Amino acid sequence: MSVAGSVRAVTTLRLTEMKQRGEKIAMLTSYDYSTAKIVDAAGVDVILVGDSAANVMAGYETTLPITLDMMIYHARSVVRGVNRALVVVDLPFGTYQGNSKVALDSAIRIMKETEADSVKIEGGEEILESVQRIISAGIPVMGHLGLTPQSIHKFGTYNVRAKEEAEAEKLIRDAHLLEEAGCFAIVLEKIPAALAERVSKELTIPTIGIGAGGATDGQVLVVHDMLGITNDFSPRFLRRYADLHGVMSDAIAHYVKDVKDQDFPNEKEQY
Ligand code: KIV
Repeated sequence: MSVAGSVRAVTTLRLTEMKQRGEKIAMLTSYDYSTAKIVDAAGVDVILVGDSAANVMAGYETTLPITLDMMIYHARSVVRGVNRALVVVDLPFGTYQGNSKVALDSAIRIMKETEADSVKIEGGEEILESVQRIISAGIPVMGHLGLTPQSIHKFGTYNVRAKEEAEAEKLIRDAHLLEEAGCFAIVLEKIPAALAERVSKELTIPTIGIGAGGATDGQVLVVHDMLGITNDFSPRFLRRYADLHGVMSDAIAHYVKDVKDQDFPNEKEQY
């Protein structure tokens, strides 16, 4: 909570102001209370409760299986840990593509049941009506273009998108449509840096890149990847800031040894 009562310190308006003064936006994912608390206190501006929870929390290969109920569970947990950052929640696969009424119902459930600040939706022209309807109900929407993981079966590969002119032109058009519809920001995932730079310059709303080069208005990473909790995923765009897989494995092996050796608990660790 902040001065305004229920509004967190980082608002959608604040993100636009950051773009205007050239201050980069730092965004990370979180899926649980304890991690969100650390991420928020470390100064991250936007926390995304991503449907990547399907991968890193639930162990699914794609993001498609995660449900709205699961996303609501993760988002509720995250919101309880956040004081400052703007919280964005992914609308999962199948909860907005059908028609705009279904999309609005899904977004309303997220806002009512989690107290998050906004939702994120993958796609451009094809989901525009849903975006407009959600925004008209007063719910801020973040767009997501480029390699949109919910369309992985259409793409057939996690390779860089929009390298060809036709796909790049469509992405530029979609970005403008999302801005005109009232989106407050757009994630650009795994597209050529030059294309991301062009889109970022043409739009007045901020772009947040992942694998889209340094010219976007902000960056986002999956927290498990940048902390090195996952160690089997090493795309070129990923910078690892820690090796938590190593740290956790060593600590747990140490604990197992101490239990087996009857070193834990010792005299001071009991009542
Ligand atoms: O679900 C997610 O984590 C995302 C980011 C990769 C942008 O959509």
